[in-house]
Amino acid sequence: RSSSPATAEQRAEILANPVFGHYFVDHQVLAEHDGQSWGNHRIEAMGTWQVHPAAAVYHYGQEIFEGLKAYRREDGSVWLFRPEANAARFARSAERLCMPPLPVEDFVSGVRQLVALEADWVPDAAGEQSLYIRPFMVASEPYLGVRPAKGYTFSVIASPVGAYYDEPVTLWLTPDYTRAAPGGTGEAKCGGNYAASLAAANQAEANGCGQVLWTDGAERKYIEECGTMNFMFITSDGELVTPELNGSILPGITRDSLLKLAPLHGLTPVEARVSVEALFDGVQSGQIVEALACGTAAVVTPIVGFKAPGGIHHVVRDGRPGPITRELRKHLVDIQYGRAEDPFGWTQ
Ligand code: COI
Repeated sequence: RSSSPATAEQRAEILANPVFGHYFVDHQVLAEHDGQSWGNHRIEAMGTWQVHPAAAVYHYGQEIFEGLKAYRREDGSVWLFRPEANAARFARSAERLCMPPLPVEDFVSGVRQLVALEADWVPDAAGEQSLYIRPFMVASEPYLGVRPAKGYTFSVIASPVGAYYDEPVTLWLTPDYTRAAPGGTGEAKCGGNYAASLAAANQAEANGCGQVLWTDGAERKYIEECGTMNFMFITSDGELVTPELNGSILPGITRDSLLKLAPLHGLTPVEARVSVEALFDGVQSGQIVEALACGTAAVVTPIVGFKAPGGIHHVVRDGRPGPITRELRKHLVDIQYGRAEDPFGWTQ
């Protein structure tokens, strides 16, 4: 589509089958930082940007982003889920990449303005569709020297997304790649981390796996994440275990939310260093009964097992999502769509 708004018919057609990340709402939020302060906050028609080819983002990758969703409830109202948590993480990512943090209020009001203006693009409550919101910031100063840029653009775009089918996946333990190293940018949500992950994702696919199981960048002994998501497993003693935040793991908001919901399901949340060996032993002995990946886009992806160059370790035998995985996922999604009580005040 060009920069002209979609007609109601075009929008209805897109919302009937919103493929993730393909279609965009009619407007974009924009703001600029001139090296001194943020300004020029505005909303424009969706369309291409004019960017100088020397803009620092194109050369040295100063870029950060966020992902959150707007949900339509049965009564037609539209809600966000923990937007301040995204705003706070965006500010931390900015610090790490030497970019100017955007005040939390400006981040949240940019998101709110776009969602209010584009409410017609938030799919119906039926199914689990939502509007995926993508705030991001790029270094726009045209300059080829290597230093923090003196000009930035902040933007919010949004894309309607369909119901997510929680297709269980096998994870590939790559012998060749790591996602993040100690002291690196692993805990920042920056584009470079995702660019660096692609070769391993291709390798996972070539080995018949849906996602990569990432190990730590120093010793390759400890589990960090899987694919673009956080990793968790459930033990027979009722623990919900996830790798502890160590500087190279992305502090996921879905991760945090599931840890907080765990006690309501009789589970003890545990954040700990988890070795590959302990994971595979636990799977082998039956002590680990379910495993899952979690993130905003997919919510929860059940994990069938792990494939390493030495063989496959199955968590579940029938390839189906485990009962606790389903229960946790349902609870989170029910809160997001206003179908369950919101004990932590996450929805707004
Ligand atoms: C998420 O799980 O929400 C992600 O970060 C994936 C996104 C990069 C598409």
